[in-house]
Amino acid sequence: MTKPNPIRPDIPPEDHIFVDDVRKSFGSTKVLKGITLHLRRKETAVIIGGSGAGKTTLLRLLIGLEQPTTGHIWVDGEDMAYLDEVQMNKMRRKFGMVFQYAALLDSLTVLDNVAFPLHEHRASLGAKAIKEKVVSMLNLLGLENKENRMPSELSGGQRKRVGLARALMLEPEILIYDEPTSGLDPLTSRMVDDLIEETRSRFGITSVVISHDMASTFRIAHQAFLVVQGQVIAQGKPDELAHGDNEEARAFIEASGVNTDNVSRVTDKKKQNTAA
Ligand SMILES: Nc1ncnc2c1ncn2[C@@H]1O[C@H](COP(=O)(O)OP(=O)(O)OP(=O)(O)O)[C@@H](O)[C@H]1O
Ligand SMILES: [Mg+2]
Repeated sequence: MTKPNPIRPDIPPEDHIFVDDVRKSFGSTKVLKGITLHLRRKETAVIIGGSGAGKTTLLRLLIGLEQPTTGHIWVDGEDMAYLDEVQMNKMRRKFGMVFQYAALLDSLTVLDNVAFPLHEHRASLGAKAIKEKVVSMLNLLGLENKENRMPSELSGGQRKRVGLARALMLEPEILIYDEPTSGLDPLTSRMVDDLIEETRSRFGITSVVISHDMASTFRIAHQAFLVVQGQVIAQGKPDELAHGDNEEARAFIEASGVNTDNVSRVTDKKKQNTAA
């Protein structure tokens, strides 16, 4: 039942996701007003913007929870609007999602929460290997000896890290993070930044991060996109936004209060990452 694709635009091969002039309205409210994004393979794109700008709406379109009112989203050169049910399920498996609030199952231990996707999709690994995989990820995230705890026994930051561990279990090609560092102390936030970067480089993951944390943006972003009232008003390397011609972008970054001149991408050892 696959409908024919519209004429395929010229998508650069490095684009993992190409958001092509996407608009989204709810009734008469225009939330996204023509968003175009080139999200490059194996890089980290950070979407920044004030409250109500449309970031979560964009994220819901990316993972196929909602459809654009007009415009197209291409993933690996495929237009999401023209996938049948089977193709759409295959597409969804490319994505992992780290929710803003960890969305843990309160009646399950940390181990069972993180193991959940493995039991659902990788049961053939066996219980022992699944437990090892979970424990090693928990250790990596600073959650040593927490596997038998219940979510209610954890701090907000620890719950968030459990949610991150769970999203990483199926090793998705694309990981979407909704505010991964919000509510975490600066030290834990920097650990999460390191983890996002390490995950990206180790597994070759494309990361899309929604963030209010400017230090984090400077540490992890290859590209940053500033969304204001449903439009991308500036994009580029964080440094280019902080020092470029776009006054609104400069003001937005300055208003964060972070001295971004002291922060650079985690793999760039030339500058010290001391702004947190
Ligand atoms: N299902 C919906 N129906 C009607 N309006 C909606 C719906 N979803 C979002 N909106 C509106 O779209 C606008 C953007 O919302 P969105 O959640 O995308 O913002 P955001 O950038 O994620 O903000 P925040 O930083 O506060 O999370 C808001 O004005 C919101 O009220
Ligand atoms: Mg939001």
